Amino acid sequence: MSDYQNYFKGSPLEVKVLTRRVGVPNSTSIDVYLEHDGYKALKKAFEMGPDAVINEMKNSGLRGRGGAGFNTGMKWSFVPKQSARPKYVVCNADESEPGTCKDRPLIEFDPHQLLEGTIIAGFAIGSHQGFIYTRGEYRYLIEILDRALEEAQARGFLGKNILGSGFDFELSTHTGAGAYECGEETALLNSLEGLRGYPRIKPPFPAVVGLYEGPTIVNNVETLANVSHIILNGAEWYAKLGTPKNGGTRLFCLSGHVSRPGVYELPMGFNLRRMIEEVGGGVPGGKKLKAVIPGGSSCPVLTADEIDVAMDFDSVAKIGSMLGSGGVVILDEDTCMVKMAHRIMKFYAHESCGWCIPCREGTAWLKSLLGRFHAGGGHEEDVDTAMDVSMNMLGKTLCPLGDAAAMPTISILKKFRSEFEEHLKLGYCPYETKAVAAA
Ligand SMILES: Cc1cc2nc3c(=O)[nH]c(=O)nc-3n(C[C@H](O)[C@H](O)[C@H](O)COP(=O)(O)O)c2cc1C
Ligand code: SF4
Repeated sequence: MSDYQNYFKGSPLEVKVLTRRVGVPNSTSIDVYLEHDGYKALKKAFEMGPDAVINEMKNSGLRGRGGAGFNTGMKWSFVPKQSARPKYVVCNADESEPGTCKDRPLIEFDPHQLLEGTIIAGFAIGSHQGFIYTRGEYRYLIEILDRALEEAQARGFLGKNILGSGFDFELSTHTGAGAYECGEETALLNSLEGLRGYPRIKPPFPAVVGLYEGPTIVNNVETLANVSHIILNGAEWYAKLGTPKNGGTRLFCLSGHVSRPGVYELPMGFNLRRMIEEVGGGVPGGKKLKAVIPGGSSCPVLTADEIDVAMDFDSVAKIGSMLGSGGVVILDEDTCMVKMAHRIMKFYAHESCGWCIPCREGTAWLKSLLGRFHAGGGHEEDVDTAMDVSMNMLGKTLCPLGDAAAMPTISILKKFRSEFEEHLKLGYCPYETKAVAAA
């Protein structure tokens, strides 16, 4: 199996835009990139001019792939045209949301696609410096990116007077120390400035006051990887790939209890049931589906009855969850949802930066309550207490990590309350017993 097949398992239902060069020999080299339409969009962007580029982005319906799903062109349009301070473009390559593994292979197998999108973003907002921020554990990506940056510089796609356009742009990589919180855009900017990765209070938003207090756009890897395709093929073409206000394709990362786990590029709005059954090959061993986390561990879980949903931002929001970062985690009938809630909370308690009390204390309390409950030491009042603590985190923290911890917990407490009651009645975890008895 080639390296890329570790991630990309392939499906005839895929629509390949961002992944079209994956699998081409030497896909990381600039020569191969140039043979496959590379840097043509940059030339076209220079001909169009910054305002037209931003309009094209707005009309394409591209929404941020980092989690929040904000319209990318709109975000770029918030950057003031005139600024006393330098403007910056920052690519968020921190990818740390559990269940998400699509930014890494995009960089690993097609780094120039990201570079081209980032340079176009710089041109559109009038920035002359950009950074690609990634966690320290992804050192192998830094090596790939640095090689690509050298190639782009040598061929005149970076540096002074790019392609004779009069536009100058420098781009470099930067590693963080590996904290989930440093993926939050303002904590990332602090980390990039050499400060501790605490988030900043918003507003002001980074588009107005960002890196070194200059106007800054922060965009996810997958978001920026889309840019060259939109410029080259047009907003209308891109918008039509998806659903209204949700343009393009999306990289969905299928993991958990699914026969063919992997990263699949599917049109926005692809039906979740078909994604699990036809793309991922269904739940292995003929087992029944119990639940799905549709967009990374921060999202409220869906039950097996809720999977006839179009996987776009608005449709998933309508049923009370989020498309998030594209990490689709599939859970079969043997999954203990109490254990799942505990496992998720262990992650958030570990990753809380500790700055605000509802998150710092709430995640720690919930971790210990859920752990005790799962081990058979639950009390009748625990479920209500857990709900109360979660509700006191929701919307009451300095950054969205508190919400990210509360939301999946609330959904599990509400939708799988019977599993908590069963633990309470038995005094042990019914799923653990089954597993022990079967062994
Ligand atoms: C705790 C936390 C962690 C985050 N981690 C990431 C991340 O690893 N990668 C990412 O692109 N966005 C992450 N985000 C979202 C960013 O704050 C920001 O919305 C995103 O980078 C904007 O880019 P986009 O508009 O292209 O999605 C995180 C947000 C929070 C609250
Ligand atoms: S919500 Fe959590 S991660 Fe965010 S600032 Fe508060 S303590 Fe830190």
